[in-house]
Amino acid sequence: MMTVDYQNCFSFILLCFFSLLCHSLFFKKLKDQQGGYDLPPSPPSLPIIGHLHHLLSSLAHKSLQKLSSKYGPLLYLSIFNFPVVLVSSASVAYEIFKAHDLNISSRDNPPIDESLLIGSSVFVGAPYGDYWKFMKKLLVTKILGTQALERSRGVREDELERFYTSLLDKATKKQSVEIGKEATKLIINSICRMSMGRSFSEENGEAERVRGLVTELDGLTKKVLLVNILRWPLEKLGISLFKKEIMYVSDSFGEVLERVLVEHEEKPDKHQGNDLMDVLLEAYGNENSEHKITRNHIKSLFVELFLGGTDTSAQTIQWTMAEIINDPNILTKLREEIDSVVGKTRLIQETDLPKLPYLESVVKEGLRLHPPLPLVVRTLQRSGEIKGFYVPEKTTLVVNAYAVMRDPSSWEDPDEFKPERFLGKKGDERKALKHIAFGSGRRGCPGSNLASIFIGTVIGTMVQCFDWRIIGDKVKMDEAGGINLTMAYPLKLTPIPRIEPFIF
Ligand code: HEM
Repeated sequence: MMTVDYQNCFSFILLCFFSLLCHSLFFKKLKDQQGGYDLPPSPPSLPIIGHLHHLLSSLAHKSLQKLSSKYGPLLYLSIFNFPVVLVSSASVAYEIFKAHDLNISSRDNPPIDESLLIGSSVFVGAPYGDYWKFMKKLLVTKILGTQALERSRGVREDELERFYTSLLDKATKKQSVEIGKEATKLIINSICRMSMGRSFSEENGEAERVRGLVTELDGLTKKVLLVNILRWPLEKLGISLFKKEIMYVSDSFGEVLERVLVEHEEKPDKHQGNDLMDVLLEAYGNENSEHKITRNHIKSLFVELFLGGTDTSAQTIQWTMAEIINDPNILTKLREEIDSVVGKTRLIQETDLPKLPYLESVVKEGLRLHPPLPLVVRTLQRSGEIKGFYVPEKTTLVVNAYAVMRDPSSWEDPDEFKPERFLGKKGDERKALKHIAFGSGRRGCPGSNLASIFIGTVIGTMVQCFDWRIIGDKVKMDEAGGINLTMAYPLKLTPIPRIEPFIF
């Protein structure tokens, strides 16, 4: 059965008319502004919608990769008449992130003002300025910086033991495990306990509800990206695309988070409280705070942490484990390393990670081939010159991290899973911006260290403690459609204990 979203169709037709109307005016003006420079090359486009169809294709990162391998690593696209610059190689990414870092350090908020996901209170979409700096400092000092991560190590150790015990239980019952679901539990619980001192309760269904919302949120990301890219024409027409769905998830999160906020406010020792939520509530209630924030600012930040931190890491864990299972040589090497460093009498810990270079390489290679956020989106605030081409102000910048990390001019056998390529490299590929799974510059991912810990310890536990049975010979590696790079067939495996079980 086919369902038609009439509201969206109507909006689309209106957009087309609007586009036709301003085509001659706007496009002409843009050309006049070039001041001697040419715009970057532009591949053939469709009338009216320009290159929109590439972004709407079910695997947008692949469609854009094809475009760049045919027409070049720096392209000028137009969505209706609104400019988008597409970057698909390490050398162009390097110039943009090094020479234009400040100029591209904002993302524009789309106009669903009251939404916790993409409204005026968000952190991820906030312009580079005082509010962003205030929140970033809190994020780093309270949960994501090196010292904060050291302070919260015990929480993650607990959650890893819980993850292991849950796998062992399934192994004893000879049941299969949905790896993504188990990893999501570990990650959400860890992020909650690290940032608000408690996890959501399994007993009253709260935890299940939040996990459901995170999954729904993930399903919305393509729509959110579209709203982001179409921001200007939508704003001009007063259209709020996908508003109903976005507001439903936003309101549901708002309800759950309001309960946690009230609980924090009512706790007897609140003045000694020192987690991220306590500090944000203190700023909310304090007239003289360095930056005045609202309740929605606090809720938005937590929603963004769940969205930014959970599915990204859980997807990488699934893709990487699937690659390991499909190549028994890699599994054997990884086990040899873990057995020789950690042994078989205790569970791997995050303090072991620096002594496990092969495991680190496996994690990097998983992120290289399967970056969970394949398209990094920013906005160029002012016009500028990139690789000798003119780029107008307010151009949306799309860096195709997927294409950069599979670029044959940067990587040998770019489509093959070969962790050895990173051994002894000391992060050179990140410095050269060949590996940009976490983006780059001041708006690069602040959770990259935490993510590497989650992925390293979870993969480490699965490899150290269990053999894994799959249905069929190989795990299927197809990508599902969508903006996030998710597995079309979520990884489902049956664990078989390989060493004496640990008791905690
Ligand atoms: C495999 C895991 C992860 C990947 C691949 C990933 C990737 C990314 C990417 C590509 C960006 C945009 C960077 C840019 O524009 O240059 C980003 C931003 C962000 N990520 Fe992550 N991320 C991961 C995990 C996490 C975790 C665990 C957290 C925190 C709990 C987190 C929090 C954020 C935040 C808050 C931003 C927005 C930063 C800003 O706008 O200033 N991420 N991430």
